[in-house]
Amino acid sequence: VAAGEVARRVVRWQAAAGRNHLPWQNTRDPYRVWLSEIMLQQTQVSTVLGYYARFLERFPDVQALARAPQDEVMGLWSGLGYYSRARNLHACAQAVVDLHGGVFPRTAEVLATLPGIGRSTAGAIASFCFAERTPILDANVRRVLTRVLGFEADLAVAKNERLLWDEAEALLPTDDLANAMPRYTQGLMDLGASLCSPRSPDCPPCPLLDICVAGQAGDAERYPVRTRK
Ligand code: ADE
Repeated sequence: VAAGEVARRVVRWQAAAGRNHLPWQNTRDPYRVWLSEIMLQQTQVSTVLGYYARFLERFPDVQALARAPQDEVMGLWSGLGYYSRARNLHACAQAVVDLHGGVFPRTAEVLATLPGIGRSTAGAIASFCFAERTPILDANVRRVLTRVLGFEADLAVAKNERLLWDEAEALLPTDDLANAMPRYTQGLMDLGASLCSPRSPDCPPCPLLDICVAGQAGDAERYPVRTRK
């Protein structure tokens, strides 16, 4: 498959069939995008909506969050679960203020040095807000890409996980990055959250079906391959 072909298809599909009206999508403010990505890590969109709105109302910017008492942050998070996310959120806001002058770093590499921001969340923020040509690889996107590539190597092995990151990088858009990068990142997330589901993928309408190794073999449910923990 030609370079950029997967990305072109994902971008076109996202514009036509993806999610385009979530509250964190009508902004390129890294504070808002970061907050949404942390909340969405282990929580579904419908639950996040109310928490996201209340958080932004109480803490409209990173400075407000940084100077808030910890118990107030935990109180607003209460009910979302995975409370280490809330402690990291607070620590990250303080790091942005204390170490970066209150301005979020503009590259995935530097974003990933902040508390609670892993490589994939860093990639999401940098691609959404700054159109950086950088990949994401959360659980949904890992499933989409392993299926497209027919990636069989055991992802419990760190070396294979790194190989998949390299593959993800090779599939990134090649031009019109300012438009393509945010839409490509969102499109992979949207495919993983809809057609490319874990147990019962809906391959016929997929824009990647004719170039997807697993789709062509009819065995998408086998991916991702992970033998041990
Ligand atoms: N899950 C993680 N990031 C998301 C996003 N930007 N939109 C919808 N669901 C998501």
